[in-house]
Amino acid sequence: MTPSASPSALSSADASPTSAHTAPSATPSLAPPPLRHENPFKILLQDIADERGATVSYPSGDTSFSLKRTKRFMDDPLPLLLDCYERYGPIFTIRILHSNVVMMLGPAANHYMTVSHAHNFLWRESHFRDLTALLGDGLLTTDDPYHRRSRKIMLPAFHRERIAASMGVMIEETERALSDWKPGVQLDLYAWTRHLATRIAMKALFGIDPDGDAARTIDAAGLFEQALGYYASAYQYRFIGGPGTPWARLQSASKKLNNMLYAEISERRRTGRRGEDVLSLLLDAHDEDGGKLTDRQVRDEVMTLLFAGHDTTTSTVSFMFYELSHQPEIAKAIAAEQDALPPGGALDAGKLMSGELAQLEMTMDETLRKYPPAWIGPRKSVEPFEFQGHVVPGNAYVNYCSWASHHLPDVWPQPDTFRPERFMPEAKAALPKGAYVPFGGGSRTCIGMRFGQLEVRTIASMILGRFTLELKHGFELQIRQMPTISPKRGLPVTVRER
Ligand code: HEM
Repeated sequence: MTPSASPSALSSADASPTSAHTAPSATPSLAPPPLRHENPFKILLQDIADERGATVSYPSGDTSFSLKRTKRFMDDPLPLLLDCYERYGPIFTIRILHSNVVMMLGPAANHYMTVSHAHNFLWRESHFRDLTALLGDGLLTTDDPYHRRSRKIMLPAFHRERIAASMGVMIEETERALSDWKPGVQLDLYAWTRHLATRIAMKALFGIDPDGDAARTIDAAGLFEQALGYYASAYQYRFIGGPGTPWARLQSASKKLNNMLYAEISERRRTGRRGEDVLSLLLDAHDEDGGKLTDRQVRDEVMTLLFAGHDTTTSTVSFMFYELSHQPEIAKAIAAEQDALPPGGALDAGKLMSGELAQLEMTMDETLRKYPPAWIGPRKSVEPFEFQGHVVPGNAYVNYCSWASHHLPDVWPQPDTFRPERFMPEAKAALPKGAYVPFGGGSRTCIGMRFGQLEVRTIASMILGRFTLELKHGFELQIRQMPTISPKRGLPVTVRER
């Protein structure tokens, strides 16, 4: 059975609450272009047609049809990509399921795609377009000019001073989450952090009270975990709908999250209640001609930020503590660095944001090198182009990949070894342009970079100042993508006294 609506069809079909809540003045003066196709089978046929219609050849690579390779790309893409890099160099093609995918790796490729030639690559028609099912048409899944307008509206909420002001919420929520930690307690640090980071994002970014009427009845973190499970499922399962399928679970979770968000939007519109949060900016934003965002557009941006604002930081904290459990001397160095400060100094936003806590800073940078959560930059080319002597057709899937780029031995010696000293200030300054891209680059650089970094530093500092974490004996890390990377079976730890 095929789903009656594709991911993107859901995003429009599910818009019903908007009509009831949309204020009369909320006339959109700019709308994102519709997706070319929404039905997965039509997408498949379009992909085949695009490939046949290519006016230039694809770069060389592994282009035969192979289910084994497709599965490997889903389950464990890093070794596959590094092997291709060794055989073909920084640009190559691999066939995933039915379509050719061009991969571009390394500093020059990252710079080319995100900065110097970014205009030739679109996000919306990339092979991650499925994300519109959950996120709708937010900042992540749209392209200019719609994207540029959304970014302009939201940027003020991400200025340095605003982020620094969010630190109170970060501390308060982390304190709350740590309140039942004591030596001997066992927990899944990944689930714990997802819960915490969701509460922080709701409160600090949108002024939504996670214990308030609209939010109290739902487990937002659990619903995200449920929805994102769709993106971890094998490609073939994404074509089927019906009860119990990943698609149905995604729809059900998305509906509950929508209800919470629409209730908040409606209450804000009704009461005029505003704060210094992103939601307030979105509700009041208007164009030169007075056009405002509809409730639906506000929901899409909020859902995008809520997803991006908790998922990536959750993975970063988890991977950091996985590495620290293997190198406790680094954890000790971070704790000692904090001890050397006057009381409260380790939780000073200014100090944390300027990277004054050098050990912590280098450890976070190295975590994001080895495990960049948003590991792939999915795009579709607009026009044919040439990169380092290789031509690539227009309308082709083209991806940059921070995870593989951060593991190239010619750029990062012994890439599998966790070595924070790679990020000592002089070494960091000497990195080639485009070598280190955990937050992407150019006009699509992560808008939440400062917020995410401050959150990771705050949570890590508060844990390391009080405890050490011992990884469950015999635990082996496996990484899944859904679509960001995270520990597949969580991170089971026991809390120990420092
Ligand atoms: C450690 C934390 C984070 C990492 C590693 C990270 C990584 C990234 C990367 C690599 C991109 C670019 C993707 C691409 O080129 O296709 C991106 C974009 C984005 N991120 Fe983050 N992110 C983090 C935290 C956050 C937070 C906390 C928020 C929100 C508060 C956020 C919101 C976004 C949004 C909205 C975009 C799309 C930006 C655009 O296209 O203009 N991220 N992020």
